[in-house]
Amino acid sequence: MRLSRLAAATIALAPLAPVAASAQTVKLGIIDTYSGPMAGVGEQLDRGIRLYMKLHEKDLPPGVKLEIIRRDSTGPNPEVAKRLAQELITRDHVQLLGGVVFTPNALAIAPLATEAKVPFIIMNAGTSMITTKSPYIARVSFTLWQSSYPLAEWAAKQGIKTVYSVVSDYGPGIDAEQAFSKGFTDNGGKMVGSVRIPVANPDFVPFLQRAKDAKPDAVFSFVPAGKEATALMKTFGDLGLHQAGIKLIGPGDITTDEELQNMGDVALGVVTMFHYSAAATRPTNLDFVKAYKAEFGPTQEPSFEVVGGYDGMAAIFDVIIAQKGNIDPDKTMALLKGWKDDNSPRGPIYIDPETRDIVQNEYLRRVEKVNGQIANVEIETIPMVKDPWKVLNHQ
Ligand code: PHB
Repeated sequence: MRLSRLAAATIALAPLAPVAASAQTVKLGIIDTYSGPMAGVGEQLDRGIRLYMKLHEKDLPPGVKLEIIRRDSTGPNPEVAKRLAQELITRDHVQLLGGVVFTPNALAIAPLATEAKVPFIIMNAGTSMITTKSPYIARVSFTLWQSSYPLAEWAAKQGIKTVYSVVSDYGPGIDAEQAFSKGFTDNGGKMVGSVRIPVANPDFVPFLQRAKDAKPDAVFSFVPAGKEATALMKTFGDLGLHQAGIKLIGPGDITTDEELQNMGDVALGVVTMFHYSAAATRPTNLDFVKAYKAEFGPTQEPSFEVVGGYDGMAAIFDVIIAQKGNIDPDKTMALLKGWKDDNSPRGPIYIDPETRDIVQNEYLRRVEKVNGQIANVEIETIPMVKDPWKVLNHQ
């Protein structure tokens, strides 16, 4: 904020007086992935931010402006993320931080958010323990336990008896593997194998071949959404796992909406559990998808990262509006605890005041063709799921 000389003098004379409630600029630092092989996922998140700004900038109180300062982590890159957060805090004096596709980036920023008391709104990164790393973190996105644990319970009830797990070897992959394995074995299923694969540019062939050779009823998989999910899906098809009668299941990252048409028919029949489908027919989602296509093109489908960015901005707008632009970190966190939106495109959501983590519906979906378009069709709803990792571990 730049003060006029008069305002500066007034504050100097009366240091305890509240800052004048006239023109206010709130500074929000966004750390996202805008370049490198994972840039597509970062672009999704940023589209959510842009769409919210376009539709709602007018809702800010008179005289309050929101300045967004964007920085590029270039992928899962904790050293870069940490430096960028440091610069945003000390040089740009941001009052709020947001963004982050990747767990390692969120973890690198967490101690800085605590030290500088800058509320940090996580719009994607999904490893469960992230929210325990700073009291200044609130998450609007999801956890992998939230989807993979109920998916496992469903799979066991469906008569799937044996599963082979293939996950990316870092936070969200390990969470997905552990959540699925617990939910599945507790309900009588058997894990017949488990591999963790490199995060960057993996070659899926040897891992999926091993999975095929183990002849499980299903392969459970998590890879980060975007192009990597498409590569996984294509390799699964190329190696003939479908023909061998092996099902593919996982959290919705592996059938991410913006890539479904690129995946093609090989994705048909894949069953996932997730908090958002572009194909959902809730009226708020129909409006949301319409607005998204108007902005980004009629062939574009919003993914869960778009919704993460969009709902993250909804939470940020609400705390700015409630404080009329005078951001106090502790007041902001108090407002975020219990923050809710009954009408998100994904359904009702709220932030659990005890854990600062998102509570939301999980939807069981099957990839089907709808009017010639490949879509994640919701077939069952598990209402208002709290992060099972926190529930089971009393976090
Ligand atoms: C994460 O790094 O936490 C992450 C990234 C991409 C996803 C899900 C989780 O699709």
